[in-house]
Amino acid sequence: MASAGEASILGMAAPLERLACAGCHGADAEGGREGSRPAPALRLDRLAGRDAAYAAPTALAETLRSGIAPDGRTLSPTMPRFHFGPRAVTALHQWLAVVATDERRGFGPNAIHVKIRGGDELVEALRAELDRVLPNGLWGLPFRLTLAEEVAPPTKTAAVGGKRERTADAPCFVAIGGPVSGCPITLFPAGGLVGDEPPDIRGLWASLADQARALIRSTSGGAVLTDGTETAKRLARIVAAEIPRPARKGETGWRMVSPMEMRPIKAVSVLLLCSPEEIPRLLSQIDGRPALLAPRRTLEPWVRPLLDRGYAITLADPMPPSASPEASPNRIVTVAVAVLVSALRACGGDCTRTRLISAFDALTLHPAGWYALDYSRQGKTGTDQVTIEDLP
Ligand code: HEC
Repeated sequence: MASAGEASILGMAAPLERLACAGCHGADAEGGREGSRPAPALRLDRLAGRDAAYAAPTALAETLRSGIAPDGRTLSPTMPRFHFGPRAVTALHQWLAVVATDERRGFGPNAIHVKIRGGDELVEALRAELDRVLPNGLWGLPFRLTLAEEVAPPTKTAAVGGKRERTADAPCFVAIGGPVSGCPITLFPAGGLVGDEPPDIRGLWASLADQARALIRSTSGGAVLTDGTETAKRLARIVAAEIPRPARKGETGWRMVSPMEMRPIKAVSVLLLCSPEEIPRLLSQIDGRPALLAPRRTLEPWVRPLLDRGYAITLADPMPPSASPEASPNRIVTVAVAVLVSALRACGGDCTRTRLISAFDALTLHPAGWYALDYSRQGKTGTDQVTIEDLP
């Protein structure tokens, strides 16, 4: 059987949030518009409030098929006609019954629930900054910050001598610092974004892809070397699609080195897209002393020994120069709180996850001592500015 939230459309399992309905009726089923025509809210309580017949999945299926509402109205042709099988329409109906609650899980009724990945210190710093900026909370709700467990939460916690929240079920509106199970929105992942993440995620730093692009632009050509990690592979795919090709034969330019290529690699510059642990292995496959280019995170632990061995190094830094090299966690916390509070303010007192992400899409901020953050154009990271630093 299809689970709630999934339906089989033309034989393909599709999450309903991704179905065409969302484009007109809103991904949170709160209603939207198509051109000048309003598309009503589809959450079941609203539908059934229009017409009690919608409480039955069969009535919904019939309306979708015929375009005639249970009360006899012929719906405008703007509303497409759909054929849903009984199982798919039941799944749709179940989803419409829970979507309003699901979209607000963790936003009220008594607090705005935020789960943090990254340790007690981060929780305390965020708590102190939120208290400073919003001593009375927001929309009449205090913030409730809890440290998320790093490990997969237990499926069941026996209540021995008292009540204990099951971590997986504790409400969560947004996660900060990294993905947390049960929190659909992740904000400001500490590791930075690669550049190809799903849309319900927002960062503070230029993505790794933006850093790689900035490094590539900083010099006329070289070789791009990657290790086998999943992150490096994703990054390599983005970069490979965009590296400028040499216009004429013999001209220098950037090239991706395939893992099958004969070693040693010869190049004047080498861009390293890998984890820090892989640096010695990759360097052992390179001929001579090319200039090394890498995101700061990758090369930081090796800078001293590599400079001593005569390598020239170029680092990409996704943080403003004043925040580097040791960005204090408090600076990041200040910026993260400024962004979070702006987005929650714009989202309103009846904030849904979908509205929060839309609020991010409209957000531009100029935090003191930080790059301008523009989520509307950048989509996820808020900035594509990168500082390039040469260490000869
Ligand atoms: C292209 C835009 C568009 C898409 C896609 C769309 N709708 Fe609609 N829908 C509308 C509009 C506009 C109306 C209002 C029509 C009217 O009032 O005549 C509507 C009306 C409805 C109604 C009737 C509510 C009432 O007034 O009784 C239902 C039910 C509905 N849509 C469900 C869905 C579902 C489920 C999907 C996806 C499978 C979907 N719609 C996809 C635009 C859309």
